[in-house]
Amino acid sequence: MTDNPVFCALDTQNPMRASQLAENLSPHIGGIKIGMEFFYAAGLAGYQSLAATGLPIFLDLKLHDIPNTVAAAVNAICPLQPAILNVHAGGGLNMMRAASKAAKDTAEENNLTAPLMIAVTVLTSLEDEDLNQIGVSATPHDQVLRLADLAQQADMGGVVCSAHEVEALRSRCGPNFKLIVPGIRPAGHAKDDQKRIMTPEAALEAGADILVIGRAITQAVDPVQAASDISASLQSTKS
Ligand code: C5P
Repeated sequence: MTDNPVFCALDTQNPMRASQLAENLSPHIGGIKIGMEFFYAAGLAGYQSLAATGLPIFLDLKLHDIPNTVAAAVNAICPLQPAILNVHAGGGLNMMRAASKAAKDTAEENNLTAPLMIAVTVLTSLEDEDLNQIGVSATPHDQVLRLADLAQQADMGGVVCSAHEVEALRSRCGPNFKLIVPGIRPAGHAKDDQKRIMTPEAALEAGADILVIGRAITQAVDPVQAASDISASLQSTKS
């Protein structure tokens, strides 16, 4: 896909701001992530203007519904050609199977490249207490491993997880299972609403494939400088 593991989360409702950020950041990032906020506000036109930058797009819509509905949604999204698309692993094995099959079938029927299908495990904003509140007695760590196993069985290409689970998942799921990691904060940066966080360098060292970084770049006084500093620190981590 790209050598630079940083996908910048463009969490804004303003398509002009998103396009401007994407263009300015483009030399320093590997791709962009757009989620519900941008997609619901800016729609297809907004998506297409970002796609025109040529950066790979992670379309973070976190689909979660009955298998038939999720498969139909994946079928509808595939022509947009996102590099990565995701569903919630909490939707279950059959829902994930339906999603990965829909991506493959639609791509084949239309002669397109299928998006990398990813399952969201446990949101990085959740800790033990939050899981307990919704009736999950497992720790976030164990719940992530359980959901990643299901995702693999369902033929998903990888998972979204926190950096804290990366090492365990890498040895459990093998080298080709993509590990996409949000909740990334450069040293000294505010946690915001995230709880299970790690620095970009430590997450990459642990074995993450893609680092999703939003506010640490987009809310910086100089977003281009912030992205360039992060990329530089990762270059030295890799070498
Ligand atoms: O600003 P920040 O770096 O915290 O942004 C993280 C991005 O990653 C947000 O767009 C959020 O929706 C997304 N995300 C997450 N945790 C997950 C999955 C996605 O924070 N488990």
